[in-house]
Amino acid sequence: MHAKVVVVGSLNMDLVARAERLPRAGETLAGESFATVPGGKGANQAVAAARLGASVAMIGNVGDDAYGQQLRQALLDEQVDCRAVAVCSGVSSGLALIVVDASSQNAIVIIPGGNGQLQPQSVQAFDDLLLDAEVIICQLEVPSQTVAYTLERGRELGKTVILNPAPCTGPLPPSWYASIDYLIPNESEAQALTGLPVTDLASAEFAASHLRKRGVKNVIITLGAQGALFASAQGVQHFAAPTVQPVDTTAAGDTFVGGFAAALARGVEEDEAIAFGQRAAALSVTRAGAQPSIPYLGEVQP
Ligand code: RIB
Repeated sequence: MHAKVVVVGSLNMDLVARAERLPRAGETLAGESFATVPGGKGANQAVAAARLGASVAMIGNVGDDAYGQQLRQALLDEQVDCRAVAVCSGVSSGLALIVVDASSQNAIVIIPGGNGQLQPQSVQAFDDLLLDAEVIICQLEVPSQTVAYTLERGRELGKTVILNPAPCTGPLPPSWYASIDYLIPNESEAQALTGLPVTDLASAEFAASHLRKRGVKNVIITLGAQGALFASAQGVQHFAAPTVQPVDTTAAGDTFVGGFAAALARGVEEDEAIAFGQRAAALSVTRAGAQPSIPYLGEVQP
């Protein structure tokens, strides 16, 4: 079957410590538990799209270590096409050092490893995957020239192009905006992209209109428990978040992006696709870990 959703992005092994609170600078803190969990924003979004009903292919890199084999296998276990997931020799797989506190918030440091070596040529070599796709998703855990190439090629091919600008430390290159159909930042990423404070619905609406003026068609700002704000040529809509008891918010944004993309790829209208992504993301925050927390289609109410 042809992949309807193609993800160009990162694979990380998540090394996750749970502790009562996040450590302060210079502090050594006793934690409560430790787990090694497949993650990475790209791979999480690929798993989410696959579990939520899409046929998916991933373009990315792992290192030539045991983590690399496990990360690839985790995708294969979800029927993600991994022929474009390459093994880079002499480099580690991507790593994410994550601390989750008792209130389910996290802090993450990533080490790019193989993700840092994903070049535009790696995407070019699998143009057939892009040609067959309905939806192409990128994030920012791989080199920016590779993201730039993918966005531009996706636009040339007339595909639906999603950018989840995470992690994000500043504005995007201006030339990227015209290639993006859906820009999906969270509140801190929207703030970094615009330089404007984003703390509530009103400030999110202001930031979204700022981003739309730069040329992107649609902006969805995810706001955690405050829901999501969708800004398009038709206006602005607020989507309330389902109420849940959070356990771990890691990969909630990835679950939203993957679920939204899977719904779009099967022809669902965008407002229903947003609500579907939100229901999936809400379930993911009730479970620990990145990929283990992502729900399957049957668990998400239609
Ligand atoms: O979005 C969550 C992901 O961010 C984690 O799985 C971690 O790998 C980092 O990339």
